[in-house]
Amino acid sequence: MSFLQSLLYPKIKVSDNKLEDALSKKTVLISGASFGIGRLLAEKIAFPNTKVIILGRTEEQLKEVCQIINDRGGSARYFVGDLRDKKTTKDFLDLIKNENISVDIFVNNAGKSIRRSVYESVDRFHDFTRTMDLNYYAPVELVLSLLPGLSEKKGQIINISSIIVLLPSIPLWSAYQASKGAFHIWFKSIKPELNLKGVATNNIYLPLVNTRMIAPTKKFNKLPTMNPEHAMQIISNSIVKRNYNYKPWWTVIIKPLIFLFQKPFFKATIMNSK
Ligand SMILES: NC(=O)c1ccc[n+]([C@@H]2O[C@H](COP(=O)([O-])OP(=O)(O)OC[C@H]3O[C@@H](n4cnc5c(N)ncnc54)[C@H](OP(=O)(O)O)[C@@H]3O)[C@@H](O)[C@H]2O)c1
Repeated sequence: MSFLQSLLYPKIKVSDNKLEDALSKKTVLISGASFGIGRLLAEKIAFPNTKVIILGRTEEQLKEVCQIINDRGGSARYFVGDLRDKKTTKDFLDLIKNENISVDIFVNNAGKSIRRSVYESVDRFHDFTRTMDLNYYAPVELVLSLLPGLSEKKGQIINISSIIVLLPSIPLWSAYQASKGAFHIWFKSIKPELNLKGVATNNIYLPLVNTRMIAPTKKFNKLPTMNPEHAMQIISNSIVKRNYNYKPWWTVIIKPLIFLFQKPFFKATIMNSK
């Protein structure tokens, strides 16, 4: 890790014992755990008294994650499906109901980002429907269905979001920013009701994290991105503390800077779109 990375992302390490205690006799649902941050978290919580349910499209990877968890003495199962497809959520929720599975913690992690000029999107309306389906409608439907059980058990919902929803709107990110922003607003709106019922609600606003999500944009490799292991520790801390939300400390600095220098910043962003 570079000096700049350690400055931007001060070390956070959650004790394994505390995490195991917090998850004792709990069932955790993680959407998008075949790769990246969700996968690291799933493998981290391979504890004997914790049940892990993971969702994603890539069966081979999901199987592998379950195998790792089960080999470590944990208990895991997977469900394969594309969350942009209404049938996936329906089939998954039917399974939860039919098998009487009661989720204590839902980590809303599955997500897709798109970085594309609006002029390159004129024939790509599907970019907008797909990001809304995955980043907004699917988690809304999951939360609604899990809510009675989560309220009964005074559970927790952890939303893996992005700092992009806290910043002024940025060119090229419209599909991602609008869809993540939609869930952010919805979650903010339901939060007081959930908290009154004892359901903890947490937002983890991540900066660029070095996963396959940002791999297609080569120039991001040169930026001081967050390590996915660090993101996983942040989520673990939220599980242990229940009232821990995260945004990088420097969000408060770059927000007014972008606002003040929007014109040159936006121009540079657009000119460097490739
Ligand atoms: N990486 C970043 O820079 C960054 C920054 C801010 C916030 N985040 C957020 O962090 C979360 C995790 O991202 P990551 O960086 O770990 O990305 P990742 O490595 O690409 O992982 C994304 C996960 O979501 C699943 N997923 C994607 N599309 C899906 C679909 N249609 N149906 C079901 N599952 C789907 C993927 O599994 P399958 O492909 O097997 O379906 C994968 O397990 C996302 O919500 C993202 O928005 C990431």
